[in-house]
Amino acid sequence: MIRGVTITGTGMYVPERVLTNHDLAKLVDTSDEWIVERTGIRERRIAAPDQASSDLALAACRRALAMAEVEPQDIDQIVLATTTPDRILPSCACTLQQKLGATRAAAYDMFAACTGFVFGLGLTRGLIGAGVADTVLVVGVETLSRIVDYTDRNTCVLFGDGAGAAVLQPCEAGIGLHAIDMHSDGELGEVLEVPAGISLNPASDRTVAAHEHFIRMQGKKLFPFAVRAMEESTRACAEAVGWSASDIDLFIPHQANERIIDGVRERLGLPREKVVVNIDRYGNTSSASIPIALDECVRAGRLKPGDKLAMAAFGGGATWGASTMTWTLPLERARRGTAAPGAVREAVS
Ligand code: ACO
Repeated sequence: MIRGVTITGTGMYVPERVLTNHDLAKLVDTSDEWIVERTGIRERRIAAPDQASSDLALAACRRALAMAEVEPQDIDQIVLATTTPDRILPSCACTLQQKLGATRAAAYDMFAACTGFVFGLGLTRGLIGAGVADTVLVVGVETLSRIVDYTDRNTCVLFGDGAGAAVLQPCEAGIGLHAIDMHSDGELGEVLEVPAGISLNPASDRTVAAHEHFIRMQGKKLFPFAVRAMEESTRACAEAVGWSASDIDLFIPHQANERIIDGVRERLGLPREKVVVNIDRYGNTSSASIPIALDECVRAGRLKPGDKLAMAAFGGGATWGASTMTWTLPLERARRGTAAPGAVREAVS
């Protein structure tokens, strides 16, 4: 690795419409008590009918660019992690590139489900570190409400819509992004899938009638795997830079289930105040969950230069991974730009 790589701006956006557990109890046989106890989720955001993933991403990216003081024309590459692109062709990243006016940027989608943002950091560390690019926008965005079956109580209570983004640029070696740990296991593919719609099972009247364009999940099988994978990956990244788990100042796990987060926290031996949880307000936003939580922490002043940050995720594929960083962004930067509408937190004053 030739150059250091760091985050110089973050942004997030969530749609204004709130879908509460009580709203869902009117659609399926569930209750606020069950959902809160089993998942920690109280509400999630749902995109408006005229909002596609690229629209959510655009709002998050504008905030990240403002914080980084980067113009759209200065972006070399856009790495957009999603499971719910606007369309399968063109890529969501290209649509975002056009909406942003990032005319110089090479733009492409990354399909790694909930681990997409972490994989995006890994890719970008290589691109910038090797001098292939200077400024890369990494985005995680989902409109999961478009592929959720609101007649299936096993899945519809879990997911929400949102976007988070980060601008990455070179920095001095030894700070910024350190280790990246990335894994996949296709043997677990059917544990979490959208069965139809592309080459394996093209769209037909039958697939629509059978609800095969919606998420299907074997949640019980994913649970222990998720806890173990995030713990082991975080430990590997910490050890790679000579940290023990207890050295971590802030841990941002993928927000899939508060009980999974608690399991990882306990296994890592971290106190609650070091672990970021916002699943109660947004549910599982897949690839957007880590960058949304990161932006909330940045703007709330929970990260200051020198802090040891770890992020970890798991998701469909299966995919999992983690990353460690020595945070570099000055607190004054977090004050730039405006708070996201709908976000339940104030910008640093
Ligand atoms: N309301 C009420 N009851 C429910 C609901 C609901 N919304 N959903 C399931 N139940 C029922 C089940 O039908 C089952 O009833 P039964 O015993 O009569 O069959 C009972 O509750 C218990 O179900 P379990 O599956 O054992 O519940 P569990 O405690 O495991 O919680 C959950 C389910 C929340 C899905 C959990 O297993 C989980 O979070 N798993 C991980 C899922 C995950 O992380 N997915 C995201 C992957 S990331 C990505 O890439 C998108």
